[in-house]
Amino acid sequence: MKAIHLHTEIPGPNSRALMQRREAAVPRGPYHATPVFAARSEGALIEDVDGNRYLDFAGGIGCLNTGHRPPEVDAAIRAQLDKYLHLCFSVTPYEGYVALAERLNALAPGKFAKKTLLVNSGAEALENAVKIARAFTRCPAVIVFNDAFHGRTMMTLSLTSKTHPYKAGFEPFPGDVYRIPYAYCYRCSYGLTYPSCKLACAGALEDAFKRLVSSESVAAVIAEPVLGEGGFVAPPKEFFSIILEICRKHGILFIADEVQSGIARTGKYFAIEHYGVEPDLITSAKSLGGGLPLAAVTGRAEIMDAAGVGGLGGTFGGNPLSCASALAALDLIEKEGLLARSADLGRRFESHGQAWQKQFPMVGDVRGLGGMCAIELVKDPATREPAADATKKIAQYCYEHGLITITAGTYGNVMRILVPLVVTDEQFNEGLDVLEAALAHVSTAGLPRKQLATSKS
Ligand SMILES: Cc1ncc(COP(=O)(O)O)c(C=O)c1O
Repeated sequence: MKAIHLHTEIPGPNSRALMQRREAAVPRGPYHATPVFAARSEGALIEDVDGNRYLDFAGGIGCLNTGHRPPEVDAAIRAQLDKYLHLCFSVTPYEGYVALAERLNALAPGKFAKKTLLVNSGAEALENAVKIARAFTRCPAVIVFNDAFHGRTMMTLSLTSKTHPYKAGFEPFPGDVYRIPYAYCYRCSYGLTYPSCKLACAGALEDAFKRLVSSESVAAVIAEPVLGEGGFVAPPKEFFSIILEICRKHGILFIADEVQSGIARTGKYFAIEHYGVEPDLITSAKSLGGGLPLAAVTGRAEIMDAAGVGGLGGTFGGNPLSCASALAALDLIEKEGLLARSADLGRRFESHGQAWQKQFPMVGDVRGLGGMCAIELVKDPATREPAADATKKIAQYCYEHGLITITAGTYGNVMRILVPLVVTDEQFNEGLDVLEAALAHVSTAGLPRKQLATSKS
């Protein structure tokens, strides 16, 4: 039986009515990838309020690596409901918070002593990572990368790279943030090619201490091990060890932002493990909570302890339901072998992507790390001019055919895959078939009639 089942026009009447209420009641700021309202969800499937069933390749932007409402997570949340809900860790502590901190300390790379702070969102984790790094180093500045996304609060907007729609109109942002090129090989900032480039971009960090900010003023370098919103770019294998070596030389902390790439997404608990690098601090969120809001900063114990008593915290951070859900989700990753599953999904996507690249010239690049994979779409593979409009059309076609996807990239020309790792083979193949049909549809839509006839034959 097909996973996708559409039996009304979409959006259906119930979704349209809800959208009218939404428009009247909610500011236009929050964006929707699809205009249908959810009724229920399970595994890798979402049913809307008109009874249409969709395959979910977006996972609520990477928050559902263990799937929608896995029974084990559901049971852990229900069991916690029977004990207590909010207490506030700063008022009356509870075991779930400590148990999750212990778990993350053990999972994060590095054999040194670690501690974990729990907060509510990815942006809040980044805010706290900056606070902790400043408290420890007593230095103000932070170095980040082109195409980075670290959140929507004021400090994290300063760390974030993309101007529209994230930053424009919300200035001014907190200062002492400096930006250098990322190892985005498909669009190298220096026009070079890997490996003959010798990772010139990583060397830009040393150069930054002459051109941008003195090394003595820098608290931390913050990097996503795989760019998330920036387009699922995974740097070459030596990139982060060079960055770390430069950080060590100058007494600067290295912070890995694993909000999107962490918690099994790439086939490891943390994507930075692929690079054999041990960050001083790691931020995680999204799939950490197993579907509930939760985020963490995990790091070297002595750095985490730099902020004084009362200097870190918040009313809801690490609330009991989210901790119970997170512990059950981490158990599930282990029990279901989701690290291996992520790697497997990544391989399958890559082989499809490479076939598409031969078939559809608009598929400029196929890339990713494990189940964090993507295709970058271009108008012409020779010029690599970004094809943002075509990308929008592909996402629209997918939605109209029951596949929920989201795009990414500074130029809005990347289709990214964040499918729940519990997706079945049949469901995954069905989703890939829709994506392939979308590529075929959008590729041929722009061709002149004569060419179209040949391409169809
Ligand atoms: C790498 C990264 N960091 C930080 C954030 C911000 O997380 P949140 O939206 O939970 O604040 C995101 C969100 O997409 C992200 O991908």
